[in-house]
Amino acid sequence: MTRLSRRTARVTPMALAALLPAARESGAIDLALGIPQGRPTQSAVEAAVAALRSGGNQYADPAGLPALRRSLAAELSRVRGVPVDAEHEITISAGATEGLLVALIAATDPGDEVLVPQPFFENHPGVVELAGAVPRFVPLTGDAWRLDGAALEAAVTPRTRAVLLNNPHNPTGRVFDRTEFDALTAVCERHDLTLITDEVYDRFVYDGHRHLSPVGAVPALRHRSVVVGSLSKTRAMSGWRLGYCLAPPALTAALRRVHERTTLGAPHPLQHGAVALGPTEEASVATARALFQDRRDLVCEALRRAGCAVRTPQGGWFGLAGTAALARDSRELARRLVEHAGVLVAPGASFFAPPEAGDDWVRIALVRDHAQVRAGLDRIAAHLTRTPIPPRS
Ligand SMILES: Cc1ncc(COP(=O)(O)O)c(C=O)c1O
Repeated sequence: MTRLSRRTARVTPMALAALLPAARESGAIDLALGIPQGRPTQSAVEAAVAALRSGGNQYADPAGLPALRRSLAAELSRVRGVPVDAEHEITISAGATEGLLVALIAATDPGDEVLVPQPFFENHPGVVELAGAVPRFVPLTGDAWRLDGAALEAAVTPRTRAVLLNNPHNPTGRVFDRTEFDALTAVCERHDLTLITDEVYDRFVYDGHRHLSPVGAVPALRHRSVVVGSLSKTRAMSGWRLGYCLAPPALTAALRRVHERTTLGAPHPLQHGAVALGPTEEASVATARALFQDRRDLVCEALRRAGCAVRTPQGGWFGLAGTAALARDSRELARRLVEHAGVLVAPGASFFAPPEAGDDWVRIALVRDHAQVRAGLDRIAAHLTRTPIPPRS
């Protein structure tokens, strides 16, 4: 029998993965995945190709091309209203995914505990496990999925070293507010915890909500935080695998040592392409935000009409639909929707531990093509009306 490390064995397959073959085969409308709809600018593609043709094919500075770090620092500092030092605070990673692993390895020892608000982005517990740490799930509470200081405090043990927060939050769409950040700051200070914030959806905040961050509106957290960001979503280039870690200089020096061992740098020619993107135009961010906000409204309204309980997402690319009144469990419902309605949604089981805790929810992506969203939601409603699934007794 193949021998595996305990940490690998604990990384479970995504519940969604079981549905993908059937979804592909039936050509189901995909309302599950948050795949960017746009594409990088032609000038960025040309710059990446030019780098490949002109010899940018070898190792580069493992911390990331200085020009890319400078352009990200300039943009972050403009958007967040605080200075960011490209030389000592930014490390370019192979997507946020590698950035998260690097941050967790740098912040924890094997067996240390990391507080992970639940529901969670499905990759987070696995990344914590791969770093050798132990996820401790802290429920987001009440009808609004709030981050609760008392719940965080109750989960702290002598082994707790870090908090892993995603904001705006996948899968709930929460954008955590000042009260929640105050409570989080108090817990981090009381127990000297490192905060790792996954901010890949930072520019997608709706209804005038404000995105709070240690690099920005919560300066008290900055010296103990690693902000993990990505070009995947904001620049519609998830296949380029470019992200970053933003942390104070001493922490950055440690992150870079780890990153030199995980990948020895993000893809060199693609970093040249990313330099050519130039600063994000605020007008285009505002257009995307307005578009997604409209689509969110469409999704929420249709789901409510279909009998789901919906808490309106405040940001990000996803929302959860409560299906307790409609289905026995989320995996069964998702399977039926793929097989009988031709629509792929993500079962809530992917976002909770144990998975059964998520069986009252399915996750819907807010950012898919408008016609597809409309058609997918119509199919869901028609299926639910035609074949109501007996609720749990
Ligand atoms: C919350 C969250 N973090 C990280 C990622 C992955 O980002 P990247 O493509 O930069 O690795 C995703 C992708 O869906 C995500 O939803």
